[in-house]
Amino acid sequence: MKRIGILGSGKGSNFAIIAEAAQTKTIPVEIALVLSDVPGAGILALAERRGIPCRFVAPGKFRTKLEPEVELEYARQLKEAGVELIILAGFMRILKAPFLSAFENRVMNIHPSLLPAFPGLEAWKQALEYGARYAGCTVHFVTPEMDAGPIIQQATVPILPDDTPETLHARIQQEEHRLYVEAIRLWCEGRLRIEGRRVRIL
Ligand code: GAR
Repeated sequence: MKRIGILGSGKGSNFAIIAEAAQTKTIPVEIALVLSDVPGAGILALAERRGIPCRFVAPGKFRTKLEPEVELEYARQLKEAGVELIILAGFMRILKAPFLSAFENRVMNIHPSLLPAFPGLEAWKQALEYGARYAGCTVHFVTPEMDAGPIIQQATVPILPDDTPETLHARIQQEEHRLYVEAIRLWCEGRLRIEGRRVRIL
């Protein structure tokens, strides 16, 4: 059984699917701690309802990253909880080197586009406005460069003529839920090997 920590800022649908997969033993993990930078975030309410330890930790004065001391506090709390893998599930701040070196090659993120296309915010909206025919999602290991770490898995969805940002994001999220559980399962089974930019699936 692997202990994992989850960081999120939003409604927590990826968290909910992962928690469900853990409970049904689809993946051999225990969610040891959920942290959020947003007070009252949906992810915290969902964790609380499931009796999973969860906490809001104030992010400090910056908008796109955590204050350095706060970032160390996040790392400290996750270490104290005995966490081996960090799952970013809609965590909307960039993590920096001190955190990433505390969990080297052990931080995963899901991004709602086919990276390297459309990094950054509201990627599904970017794809729609760009006129792309396909969108999708990417699970990758996190490195200091935003949305640019070694790719573990990707899935595509079509962009349909009548899509709105909401309908497209919902279609992408269905794939996210499947893909994230699968990536965590592969990690738990020791089947992900990082080789430079690439991840080899054993
Ligand atoms: C997901 O679509 C995720 O890909 C995205 O936030 C959403 C969180 O949804 N993450 C990013 O854009 C990170 N750059 P959730 O709270 O329902 O899991």
